[in-house]
Amino acid sequence: MRGMDGLGALGATYLSDIAAAADEAALEALRIALLGRKGAISLRMRALGGMDPEARRAAAPALNGLRDEVEAAFRARRAALADAALAARLAAEWLDVTLPARPRPAGTVHPVTQVMDELTAIFADMGFAVAEGPQVETDWHNFDALNIPPEHPARQEHDTFFLHRAEGDNRPPHVLRTHTSPVQIRAMLARGAPLRVIAPGRVYRLDMDQTHTPMFHQVEGLAIDRELSMAQLKWVLEEFCRAFFEVEGVELRFRASHFPFTEPSAEVDIRCSWADGQLRIGEGESWLEILGSGMVHPNVLRAGGVDPDRWQGFAFGMGIDRIAMLKYGIPDLRAFFESDLRWLRHYGFAALDIPALPAGLSR
Ligand code: DAH
Repeated sequence: MRGMDGLGALGATYLSDIAAAADEAALEALRIALLGRKGAISLRMRALGGMDPEARRAAAPALNGLRDEVEAAFRARRAALADAALAARLAAEWLDVTLPARPRPAGTVHPVTQVMDELTAIFADMGFAVAEGPQVETDWHNFDALNIPPEHPARQEHDTFFLHRAEGDNRPPHVLRTHTSPVQIRAMLARGAPLRVIAPGRVYRLDMDQTHTPMFHQVEGLAIDRELSMAQLKWVLEEFCRAFFEVEGVELRFRASHFPFTEPSAEVDIRCSWADGQLRIGEGESWLEILGSGMVHPNVLRAGGVDPDRWQGFAFGMGIDRIAMLKYGIPDLRAFFESDLRWLRHYGFAALDIPALPAGLSR
């Protein structure tokens, strides 16, 4: 057997092999080769047993020392490899959560949704809450309660879709709502006065050409308070148009009109120009009709459970698709509902740009 020096040189080799083990597997192979049952150090330990006591006493301490040193080196190397593995993993999985989100996800927001979000933000700023009603509506809510009795000519003008009823089914007749005005009734019945709501949503009429589709969108507005007048209605609508069209100089024209549910009634036009075939809002000599409005008829207040001797209201109704076409220069209404991906990509809005007044509505 070699003396102390031989063991020392051997130990140095072992230690440098251990320190150089590149990974867990190499380290384990080395451990078996040295400390395993037939490992080099184990064999030497076992050989001590066959020595005479004096030789054993001389050889054992150095061998024990070597074994302890080698075991410590294994522990240290194992810990170093684990640290390096963790560091590599942390580096690989590192993520900067402060990076801005991807500017343009694959999907886009439909112009109708965008405009609904925009007008909701504008009216919310003026204290209007969002109200909702069903698209399958009783004809009482859609007509009677809005001061349109059965024989009223307005019923014919609405091109109504009626729901089929089996014979003997005597639930009240239902229609696909032809306007968002029935939400006025539902909001009054549910919330009472005073009240300030808008109701954007789908409506249906049997009509189809370049400017009409059987389903389209309206937004209803209703304000009820002790003293409300056309002056406040006009201010609210002007304020809305200025914010919505993002033009300072919007000019509105109120034209006397007639709706069964308002008295007096006015249709509202917006000043625009069509120079070079391009629509410009707020300048020029043309007028575009954008909405109907008026002071809520006492019969309508009554149908909503609101006392017309104590409360007054103004209301308005506006085509959402139409103002979307005007604001964003979209020529054909029918394309809105054809789900053509090229159209959606072209006219759609970035999903993460939620309209808000302080940031500007349509960045
Ligand atoms: N409901 C009407 C329509 O669909 C629009 C309308 C006009 C609504 C005047 C109103 C209003 O609230 O006051 O043609």
